[in-house]
Amino acid sequence: MNFTGKVALVAGGTGGLGRVVSLAFLKEGAGVTVTYRKEQEFADVKRVAGADASRLAGRSLDVTDEAAVQKLVDGICAEHGRLDVLVNAVGGYAGGTKVWELETRVLDQMLALNLRSGFVLSRAAAKAMREQGSGAIVNIASKAAVDHEAGASAYAASKAAAVALMDSLAADLKGSGVRVNSVLPSIIDTEANREAMPTANFAKWPKPEDIARVILFLASDDAKVIHGAAIPVYGNS
Ligand SMILES: NC(=O)c1ccc[n+]([C@@H]2O[C@H](COP(=O)([O-])OP(=O)(O)OC[C@H]3O[C@@H](n4cnc5c(N)ncnc54)[C@H](OP(=O)(O)O)[C@@H]3O)[C@@H](O)[C@H]2O)c1
Repeated sequence: MNFTGKVALVAGGTGGLGRVVSLAFLKEGAGVTVTYRKEQEFADVKRVAGADASRLAGRSLDVTDEAAVQKLVDGICAEHGRLDVLVNAVGGYAGGTKVWELETRVLDQMLALNLRSGFVLSRAAAKAMREQGSGAIVNIASKAAVDHEAGASAYAASKAAAVALMDSLAADLKGSGVRVNSVLPSIIDTEANREAMPTANFAKWPKPEDIARVILFLASDDAKVIHGAAIPVYGNS
């Protein structure tokens, strides 16, 4: 999976999964732009990237903001002349509340973070990728998109909608040379999850590095026959 000369945008590219994805693309030679919200997180990715940081750029923005995202994609295309990969690793979770107790505000938040983010980002990226006749989009959804547990209705609905959006986008992009896929993680072994569930058996949780490998594969030419898929990445434990 050599991405030398390729240009990738990783939205949420400094988060628990996103940072590992960004670092993996950098390691494989890509030029990577990440979006971030916390300056410190971007500084940390830069530090860990070492010499590869010369191919790393960061933009602080809200990915649900259409104008800001369009400007970002236009800027990448103007600077590099192309955009080969979009990974959307922005998302959020809300759970532990039955539907009749759920505040509408929480549903709106879940739809913004898990659905609107992918819509805004992939719309801007798809336009650029269609023009160049190539590209790959990978949207991070969740096992909750297909396995709807009690207490997580807003999250599950937003992730299911995100999968449907990507599936339909894949149909829109048929024959364009641009591929679109979703991945469905369950609980990932991130620092935040370890802090939130200190007594859990971390060994059972898929590592961000293992999920990143699947994402890079989907973004690579080796996956040229995979389009419109929603790939489970929750292992077998
Ligand atoms: N972690 C899991 O166990 C798990 C399980 C299933 C699915 N997923 C999905 O996997 C993806 C990555 O999860 P993660 O654990 O890496 O999450 P994370 O650590 O919270 O990373 C998400 C990143 O996106 C940023 N972000 C949030 N809202 C944003 C916005 N409006 N504009 C720009 N950036 C924004 C976050 O910034 P802030 O930190 O400032 O909010 C954070 O840096 C998400 O889609 C998540 O739903 C995760």
